[in-house]
Amino acid sequence: MAAPNIETIVSLSKRRGFVFPSSEIYGGLGSAWDYGPLGVELCNNVKQAWWRWMVHERDDMEGIDSSIILNRQVWKYSGHEATFSDPLVDCRECNQRFRADKLWDEYRHQVFSEIKETDPRTKALLESEARDILSVEARRAFNDRHISCPNCGRKNWTEPRAFNLMFRTTIGAIADEDDPTALAYLRPETAQGIFINFLNVQTTMRRKIPFGIAQIGKSFRNEVTPGNFIFRTREFEQMEMEYFVRPGEDERVHQEWIDYCFGWFKQLGISASNLRLYEQPKEELAHYAKRTVDIHYRFFPEREDEDRQWDELMGIANRTDFDLKAHSKKPEEDGKRLNPDSTEDLSYFDEATKERYYPYVIEPAAGVNRTVLAVLMDAYSERTTDKGEKRVILKLHPALAPIKVAVLPLAKNKPEIVALAKCIKKELQPSMRAVYDDTGGIGKLYARQDEIGTPACVTVDHQSLEDEAVTVRDRDTWEQERVKVAELSEHLKKRLEIKC
Ligand code: GAP
Repeated sequence: MAAPNIETIVSLSKRRGFVFPSSEIYGGLGSAWDYGPLGVELCNNVKQAWWRWMVHERDDMEGIDSSIILNRQVWKYSGHEATFSDPLVDCRECNQRFRADKLWDEYRHQVFSEIKETDPRTKALLESEARDILSVEARRAFNDRHISCPNCGRKNWTEPRAFNLMFRTTIGAIADEDDPTALAYLRPETAQGIFINFLNVQTTMRRKIPFGIAQIGKSFRNEVTPGNFIFRTREFEQMEMEYFVRPGEDERVHQEWIDYCFGWFKQLGISASNLRLYEQPKEELAHYAKRTVDIHYRFFPEREDEDRQWDELMGIANRTDFDLKAHSKKPEEDGKRLNPDSTEDLSYFDEATKERYYPYVIEPAAGVNRTVLAVLMDAYSERTTDKGEKRVILKLHPALAPIKVAVLPLAKNKPEIVALAKCIKKELQPSMRAVYDDTGGIGKLYARQDEIGTPACVTVDHQSLEDEAVTVRDRDTWEQERVKVAELSEHLKKRLEIKC
């Protein structure tokens, strides 16, 4: 079982301290969320699992941590200044603003499902060229008043126009707000920080192609329609890796990374039936991409139309040599400089073949927050007790669980039991996140730990004082076993697959 909808996770998150609406005491800030005590642990565990899998467990990977604010030229030559935009339309009646491509997509879906069986020609048309928001079909749908405003229901639109998604700022205390020489952006992807450091990493670490550079960090996009909890926000965290390969090897390596990444989400415990691969059609490809395959998660299981249940968790793009070339000062064959502002040529000399070339790049890019949401939704389950009470169990992979073990005294008014429980918690703490809790009866304490995904509870009882053993209770099966205190740490490490 998984969560029936995102709302279930929103309320669990707030109730149990995973995620809170940001700036709530001032009325909130649309689309901003704060991670609470359990949320920050979960995020850190997701990032740690990714870094271990992507960097530490491979021999062909390095990591970096680049700046959020980069020289503006980076965004000029990456193409983001010119093309990183969403098409917007305004409703002339209620003055609300919407993403034109999303409205068009909704409309297309609706029409498409109505004519699905009956009219193959219209179906083919809608499937192919009409995906493009600036296509004649799309413009006509707005101008001829077919598309309704989701807010007021009327059909009176402005022309679609481009809106750049990069957040702007100015550098320096004395800069005027509109001074173009002081203009800077908050990065909309971490990837560019990797491209501009390609030579630094390659030469200092004496790397040969193929190899990759990984980075985790915050990115910012002034999204037109953020929403669906932490799925789409204006400030979010990315886990990106750029893998540099010889041109000609790119297609094979791209496919390998698609399979490898799909496997990672399954390793995290996400059910394969809630994951799918999505081949981006040509009209959807970013300006740098030759081919992109997304890994989708079933974020919207409540939607009737199966196709609309899915959305992107990770994109795996073949970025070709677009970025390294774009940031290179090297002259083209005709003598024209590729980039008059860059001081470096980011090509690579292959000692073995004595060839110089611009490596192609395969890029798996995932969102930390979307991974957290997918993991929470997938782990959600419910169970009814013998007394007919509904319990929520968050069946998180032990590596991701915010708390690995809760140590609970059966009688909090018995000092010897409390002392032993506190001592056990302290001994476990260096090797796993452990908590002590005596704020309720044992049934209530178990229920609370189940709901936040703690894989094991350790109960100290009267008998523990005699036999130096405790009860270990399993979150998923509710089965209990007796374990000697002296063997407890090793027992739990093995059971929870804790790596050093
Ligand atoms: N460097 C390539 C790149 O940034 P992307 O598909 O735009 O590609 C990669 O972003 C991942 O970042 C997405 O698959 C998604 O998980 C996450 N992401 C993108 N925009 C987001 C947003 N507004 N809120 C939360 N996560 C986002």
